[in-house]
Amino acid sequence: MDSKTSQLIDLQEQAAKLYHHVLVNTQVGQPALDYLHDRGLTDETIETYQLGFAPGQRLLKPFFEQRNSDYQLLRQSGLFIENAQGELRDRFTERVMFPLRNASGHVAAFSGRLIKKADDQPKYLNSPETALFNKSRLLFNFDLARPAIRQAGEVTLFEGYMDVISATQAGVHNGIASMGTSLTTEQIYAIERTTDKLNVCYDGDEPGQRAISRALTLLGQHSHLTLSVIQLPEGQDPDEYRRAHGDEAFRQMLTTAKEPPLQFNLRFLRRNKALDTDSEQLAYVNQVMPLLAQVQEPVELDMYLNQLANEFHIDKAALQAQLKQTQRDTA
Ligand code: GTP
Ligand code: MN
Ligand code: MN
Ligand code: MN
Ligand code: MN
Repeated sequence: MDSKTSQLIDLQEQAAKLYHHVLVNTQVGQPALDYLHDRGLTDETIETYQLGFAPGQRLLKPFFEQRNSDYQLLRQSGLFIENAQGELRDRFTERVMFPLRNASGHVAAFSGRLIKKADDQPKYLNSPETALFNKSRLLFNFDLARPAIRQAGEVTLFEGYMDVISATQAGVHNGIASMGTSLTTEQIYAIERTTDKLNVCYDGDEPGQRAISRALTLLGQHSHLTLSVIQLPEGQDPDEYRRAHGDEAFRQMLTTAKEPPLQFNLRFLRRNKALDTDSEQLAYVNQVMPLLAQVQEPVELDMYLNQLANEFHIDKAALQAQLKQTQRDTA
């Protein structure tokens, strides 16, 4: 590590300490601490993730100025916003702070969450990309999760930081999350160096379902990971599920709600569809064929063909003929 990198890391880690101190030891942090407690987080979890609070006043700037920190370094840290005159002010205000650590466990950046909803501001604000922070590479919690991933032989990919943190509190330590944006190939390669099994556990809403579909496609194209989907009840995210049903039920759900990608894809294709007209049924069957063309096991394939034939009263021989056609087209 060169000295500039270690100086930048040092800044991030000092900022994390300060945000954390404000959250747990000061009056000004009390509403944020109440917020996190209300969300069901324990003090232990808050310590584990060094969660913090950026108050609505100047915090980092006077702190670092007192320490005579280098102006260029401060500029490059992403912790400040610079005006036209080159003056810096704190980027994060009135936000609960989530330190984002890299794979070596060093704080590389932050994500800050609003405590109160504000229409003119994003719910989560991330640090900009810096020499330390590349959002297409970083995986939230990967540093802490790695031993648990190795031990469990699998990793669970969540959509949000709060889902990962919630899982940790339920005793599930092999959870990670990408940076809100969709999963990237760089992240997939990092995961594949640690394990060969991945469960996708995104939110049970429409954006979550679409993100699962995209993630499965990308993971299928760029890895040899054995994939599963963990399907949440409609409209719930993993953190909401844990708070509604408790830790034990949460852990249960992670194993019992697991399904193979094909099962998910079939359900995904027919969501929001009544499938009660010939043309809708035909369109559905046509979309299903390329998926079935990838099924390796003859018995499993036969099972799916029987289901289609029965449900839509289609001659099985016709389905088989169309499948052959599809296989030829995609070969
Ligand atoms: P909570 O509302 O705190 O429970 O967060 P959540 O994780 O449930 O949020 P949501 O499902 O809406 O989004 C999932 C993830 O997308 C978050 O953890 C963030 O990483 C990211 N995200 C959500 N909203 C924003 C936003 O406004 N800006 C950015 N940059 N990322 C966001
Ligand atoms: Mn502490
Ligand atoms: Mn979501
Ligand atoms: Mn969510
Ligand atoms: Mn949530």
